[in-house]
Amino acid sequence: MNIILIGPPGAGKGTQAKRLVTERGMVQLSTGDMLREARDSGTEMGQRVAEVMSRGALVTDEIVIGLIAEKLDSLGAAGAIFDGFPRTLAQADALEALLQGRGAPIDHVIEMRVDDEALVARISGRFSCGSCGEVYHDTTRPTRTEGICDVCGSTEFLRRADDNEDSLRARLMAYYKQTSPLLGYYHAKGQLSVVDGMGEMDAVAGDVAAVLDR
Ligand code: AP5
Repeated sequence: MNIILIGPPGAGKGTQAKRLVTERGMVQLSTGDMLREARDSGTEMGQRVAEVMSRGALVTDEIVIGLIAEKLDSLGAAGAIFDGFPRTLAQADALEALLQGRGAPIDHVIEMRVDDEALVARISGRFSCGSCGEVYHDTTRPTRTEGICDVCGSTEFLRRADDNEDSLRARLMAYYKQTSPLLGYYHAKGQLSVVDGMGEMDAVAGDVAAVLDR
Protein backbone atom coordinates (compact mmCIF):
# COMPACT_ATOMS: atom_id res chain seq x y z
CA MET A 1 0.00 0.00 0.00
CA ASN A 2 1.28 3.48 -0.92
CA ILE A 3 -0.05 6.56 0.81
CA ILE A 4 0.53 10.32 0.71
CA LEU A 5 0.32 12.51 3.82
CA ILE A 6 -0.45 16.14 2.97
CA GLY A 7 -0.66 18.98 5.47
CA PRO A 8 0.89 22.30 6.44
CA PRO A 9 4.18 22.51 8.37
CA GLY A 10 3.69 21.01 11.83
CA ALA A 11 0.47 19.18 10.96
CA GLY A 12 1.94 15.93 12.28
CA LYS A 13 2.88 14.21 9.00
CA GLY A 14 6.24 13.01 10.29
CA THR A 15 4.80 11.91 13.64
CA GLN A 16 2.10 9.78 12.01
CA ALA A 17 4.45 8.45 9.32
CA LYS A 18 6.84 7.14 12.00
CA ARG A 19 3.97 5.36 13.74
CA LEU A 20 2.99 3.65 10.49
CA VAL A 21 6.59 2.52 10.03
CA THR A 22 6.55 0.91 13.48
CA GLU A 23 3.01 -0.45 13.39
CA ARG A 24 2.71 -1.54 9.74
CA GLY A 25 6.27 -2.00 8.50
CA MET A 26 5.83 0.68 5.86
CA VAL A 27 8.73 2.84 4.61
CA GLN A 28 8.71 6.59 5.29
CA LEU A 29 9.88 8.71 2.35
CA SER A 30 10.26 12.24 3.71
CA THR A 31 11.61 14.73 1.19
CA GLY A 32 12.30 17.12 4.10
CA ASP A 33 14.64 14.51 5.67
CA MET A 34 16.26 13.76 2.28
CA LEU A 35 16.87 17.47 1.67
CA ARG A 36 18.32 17.98 5.17
CA GLU A 37 20.70 15.09 4.44
CA ALA A 38 21.68 16.72 1.12
CA ARG A 39 22.11 20.08 2.89
CA ASP A 40 24.42 18.57 5.50
CA SER A 41 26.51 16.75 2.86
CA GLY A 42 28.32 19.99 1.97
CA THR A 43 27.97 19.44 -1.81
CA GLU A 44 27.15 22.31 -4.18
CA MET A 45 23.60 21.01 -4.51
CA GLY A 46 23.42 20.83 -0.70
CA GLN A 47 24.42 24.49 -0.40
CA ARG A 48 21.70 25.56 -2.84
CA VAL A 49 19.15 23.48 -0.95
CA ALA A 50 20.22 24.98 2.41
CA GLU A 51 19.60 28.52 1.16
CA VAL A 52 16.10 27.70 -0.14
CA MET A 53 15.09 25.75 2.99
CA SER A 54 16.23 28.50 5.33
CA ARG A 55 13.84 30.89 3.52
CA GLY A 56 10.98 28.41 3.89
CA ALA A 57 10.54 28.23 0.11
CA LEU A 58 10.16 25.07 -1.96
CA VAL A 59 13.24 23.40 -3.44
CA THR A 60 13.02 22.90 -7.24
CA ASP A 61 10.83 20.09 -8.55
CA GLU A 62 13.81 18.70 -10.47
CA ILE A 63 15.91 18.13 -7.33
CA VAL A 64 13.06 16.71 -5.24
CA ILE A 65 11.75 14.39 -7.96
CA GLY A 66 15.31 13.15 -8.51
CA LEU A 67 15.66 12.29 -4.80
CA ILE A 68 12.34 10.41 -4.73
CA ALA A 69 13.10 8.52 -7.95
CA GLU A 70 16.40 7.35 -6.45
CA LYS A 71 14.69 6.13 -3.26
CA LEU A 72 11.93 4.34 -5.17
CA ASP A 73 14.57 2.45 -7.12
CA SER A 74 15.89 0.94 -3.92
CA LEU A 75 12.47 0.35 -2.31
CA GLY A 76 11.48 -3.29 -1.86
CA ALA A 77 7.94 -4.62 -1.63
CA ALA A 78 7.03 -2.61 1.51
CA GLY A 79 4.42 0.13 1.13
CA ALA A 80 5.62 3.72 1.05
CA ILE A 81 4.43 6.72 3.03
CA PHE A 82 5.11 9.87 1.04
CA ASP A 83 5.63 12.49 3.77
CA GLY A 84 5.84 16.04 2.40
CA PHE A 85 5.84 14.89 -1.23
CA PRO A 86 4.33 15.77 -3.66
CA ARG A 87 4.07 19.49 -2.92
CA THR A 88 3.35 20.78 -6.45
CA LEU A 89 1.28 19.53 -9.36
CA ALA A 90 4.48 18.80 -11.31
CA GLN A 91 5.65 16.57 -8.44
CA ALA A 92 2.25 14.83 -8.34
CA ASP A 93 2.47 14.06 -12.07
CA ALA A 94 6.04 12.81 -11.70
CA LEU A 95 5.06 10.55 -8.78
CA GLU A 96 2.19 9.07 -10.74
CA ALA A 97 4.51 8.26 -13.65
CA LEU A 98 7.13 6.75 -11.32
CA LEU A 99 4.56 4.57 -9.56
CA GLN A 100 2.94 3.48 -12.80
CA GLY A 101 6.32 2.13 -13.84
CA ARG A 102 6.38 0.04 -10.66
CA GLY A 103 2.76 -1.14 -10.96
CA ALA A 104 2.04 0.16 -7.45
CA PRO A 105 -0.44 3.05 -7.43
CA ILE A 106 -1.32 5.47 -4.63
CA ASP A 107 -4.03 3.91 -2.44
CA HIS A 108 -4.84 6.84 -0.16
CA VAL A 109 -4.08 10.54 0.05
CA ILE A 110 -4.66 11.84 3.57
CA GLU A 111 -5.01 15.52 4.29
CA MET A 112 -4.09 16.35 7.89
CA ARG A 113 -6.08 19.44 8.80
CA VAL A 114 -4.76 21.68 11.61
CA ASP A 115 -5.52 25.33 12.50
CA ASP A 116 -2.75 27.82 11.73
CA GLU A 117 -2.49 28.97 15.40
CA ALA A 118 -1.87 25.39 16.54
CA LEU A 119 0.88 25.03 13.92
CA VAL A 120 2.86 27.91 15.45
CA ALA A 121 2.73 26.24 18.88
CA ARG A 122 3.74 22.86 17.43
CA ILE A 123 6.63 24.20 15.38
CA SER A 124 8.03 26.41 18.12
CA GLY A 125 8.00 23.55 20.66
CA ARG A 126 9.46 20.85 18.42
CA PHE A 127 12.86 19.27 19.11
CA SER A 128 14.42 15.97 18.12
CA CYS A 129 17.05 13.54 19.31
CA GLY A 130 20.41 14.35 17.75
CA SER A 131 21.29 10.68 17.62
CA CYS A 132 18.20 8.67 16.51
CA GLY A 133 16.00 11.54 15.23
CA GLU A 134 12.99 10.81 17.49
CA VAL A 135 10.71 13.86 17.43
CA TYR A 136 9.44 15.46 20.67
CA HIS A 137 7.57 18.57 21.75
CA ASP A 138 8.17 20.76 24.80
CA THR A 139 4.60 20.35 26.07
CA THR A 140 2.69 17.76 24.02
CA ARG A 141 5.43 15.14 23.82
CA PRO A 142 8.33 15.73 26.21
CA THR A 143 10.91 13.03 26.90
CA ARG A 144 9.90 10.72 29.79
CA THR A 145 13.07 11.69 31.68
CA GLU A 146 14.14 15.26 31.11
CA GLY A 147 17.17 15.54 28.82
CA ILE A 148 17.28 11.82 27.89
CA CYS A 149 15.90 10.38 24.64
CA ASP A 150 13.20 7.74 25.34
CA VAL A 151 14.35 5.66 22.37
CA CYS A 152 18.16 5.61 22.42
CA GLY A 153 19.18 7.30 25.69
CA SER A 154 21.11 10.09 23.97
CA THR A 155 21.38 13.44 25.75
CA GLU A 156 21.92 15.46 22.53
CA PHE A 157 18.89 17.26 21.10
CA LEU A 158 18.38 19.51 18.06
CA ARG A 159 15.97 22.21 17.00
CA ARG A 160 15.47 22.82 13.26
CA ALA A 161 16.89 26.09 11.92
CA ASP A 162 13.70 26.68 9.90
CA ASP A 163 11.45 26.28 12.95
CA ASN A 164 11.16 30.01 13.56
CA GLU A 165 8.26 32.38 13.02
CA ASP A 166 9.54 34.06 9.80
CA SER A 167 10.34 30.78 8.10
CA LEU A 168 7.06 29.24 9.30
CA ARG A 169 5.13 32.12 7.73
CA ALA A 170 6.92 31.52 4.40
CA ARG A 171 6.38 27.74 4.65
CA LEU A 172 2.67 28.27 5.30
CA MET A 173 2.44 30.62 2.31
CA ALA A 174 4.17 28.03 0.11
CA TYR A 175 1.73 25.41 1.39
CA TYR A 176 -1.40 27.43 0.59
CA LYS A 177 -0.09 28.71 -2.76
CA GLN A 178 1.70 25.68 -4.21
CA THR A 179 0.60 22.56 -2.29
CA SER A 180 -3.06 23.05 -1.33
CA PRO A 181 -4.18 22.91 -5.02
CA LEU A 182 -3.22 19.23 -4.82
CA LEU A 183 -6.14 18.65 -2.46
CA GLY A 184 -8.63 19.46 -5.24
CA TYR A 185 -6.63 17.34 -7.66
CA TYR A 186 -6.69 14.24 -5.43
CA HIS A 187 -10.31 14.87 -4.42
CA ALA A 188 -11.27 14.86 -8.11
CA LYS A 189 -9.42 11.55 -8.52
CA GLY A 190 -11.45 10.08 -5.60
CA GLN A 191 -8.31 9.43 -3.54
CA LEU A 192 -8.55 12.13 -0.85
CA SER A 193 -9.53 11.54 2.79
CA VAL A 194 -9.45 14.24 5.46
CA VAL A 195 -8.27 13.57 9.00
CA ASP A 196 -8.72 16.03 11.88
CA GLY A 197 -5.12 16.68 12.90
CA MET A 198 -6.13 18.80 15.91
CA GLY A 199 -6.75 15.78 18.16
CA GLU A 200 -4.23 14.04 20.41
CA MET A 201 -1.59 11.99 18.59
CA ASP A 202 -3.28 8.66 19.42
CA ALA A 203 -6.66 9.91 18.19
CA VAL A 204 -5.11 11.13 14.93
CA ALA A 205 -3.36 7.77 14.52
CA GLY A 206 -6.73 6.02 14.99
CA ASP A 207 -8.31 8.16 12.28
CA VAL A 208 -5.40 7.50 9.89
CA ALA A 209 -5.68 3.75 10.57
CA ALA A 210 -9.43 3.88 9.86
CA VAL A 211 -8.72 5.37 6.43
CA LEU A 212 -6.09 2.73 5.62
CA ASP A 213 -8.34 -0.13 6.77
CA ARG A 214 -11.39 1.11 4.89
P1 AP5 B 1 9.55 19.25 5.82
O1 AP5 B 1 10.62 18.67 6.64
O2 AP5 B 1 8.66 18.35 5.04
O3 AP5 B 1 8.72 20.22 6.75
P2 AP5 B 1 7.17 20.61 6.79
O4 AP5 B 1 6.28 20.19 5.69
O5 AP5 B 1 7.25 22.08 7.03
O6 AP5 B 1 6.60 19.75 7.88
P3 AP5 B 1 7.23 19.51 9.26
O7 AP5 B 1 8.27 18.45 9.23
O8 AP5 B 1 7.65 20.85 9.83
O9 AP5 B 1 5.94 19.07 10.10
P4 AP5 B 1 5.18 17.68 10.24
O10 AP5 B 1 3.84 17.81 9.61
O11 AP5 B 1 6.02 16.52 9.85
O12 AP5 B 1 4.96 17.72 11.82
P5 AP5 B 1 5.61 16.82 12.99
O13 AP5 B 1 5.07 15.44 12.93
O14 AP5 B 1 7.10 16.98 13.06
O15 AP5 B 1 10.16 20.29 4.78
C1 AP5 B 1 11.13 21.26 5.18
C2 AP5 B 1 11.56 22.09 3.97
O16 AP5 B 1 12.15 21.23 2.96
C3 AP5 B 1 10.43 22.82 3.22
O17 AP5 B 1 10.13 24.06 3.82
C4 AP5 B 1 11.05 22.96 1.81
O18 AP5 B 1 12.00 24.00 1.77
C5 AP5 B 1 11.79 21.63 1.64
N1 AP5 B 1 10.95 20.57 1.02
C6 AP5 B 1 10.54 19.41 1.63
N2 AP5 B 1 9.82 18.65 0.77
C7 AP5 B 1 9.77 19.35 -0.39
C8 AP5 B 1 9.15 19.10 -1.65
N3 AP5 B 1 8.41 17.98 -1.87
N4 AP5 B 1 9.28 20.03 -2.63
C9 AP5 B 1 10.01 21.16 -2.44
N5 AP5 B 1 10.62 21.46 -1.25
C10 AP5 B 1 10.50 20.57 -0.24
O19 AP5 B 1 4.96 17.55 14.25
C11 AP5 B 1 5.32 18.88 14.62
C12 AP5 B 1 5.38 18.97 16.15
O20 AP5 B 1 4.06 18.83 16.68
C13 AP5 B 1 6.25 17.89 16.83
O21 AP5 B 1 6.92 18.46 17.92
C14 AP5 B 1 5.22 16.83 17.30
O22 AP5 B 1 5.67 16.17 18.47
C15 AP5 B 1 3.98 17.70 17.56
N6 AP5 B 1 2.72 17.01 17.23
C16 AP5 B 1 2.50 16.16 16.18
N7 AP5 B 1 1.23 15.73 16.19
C17 AP5 B 1 0.62 16.32 17.25
C18 AP5 B 1 -0.71 16.26 17.80
N8 AP5 B 1 -1.68 15.52 17.23
N9 AP5 B 1 -0.96 17.01 18.90
C19 AP5 B 1 -0.01 17.77 19.48
N10 AP5 B 1 1.28 17.85 19.03
C20 AP5 B 1 1.59 17.14 17.92
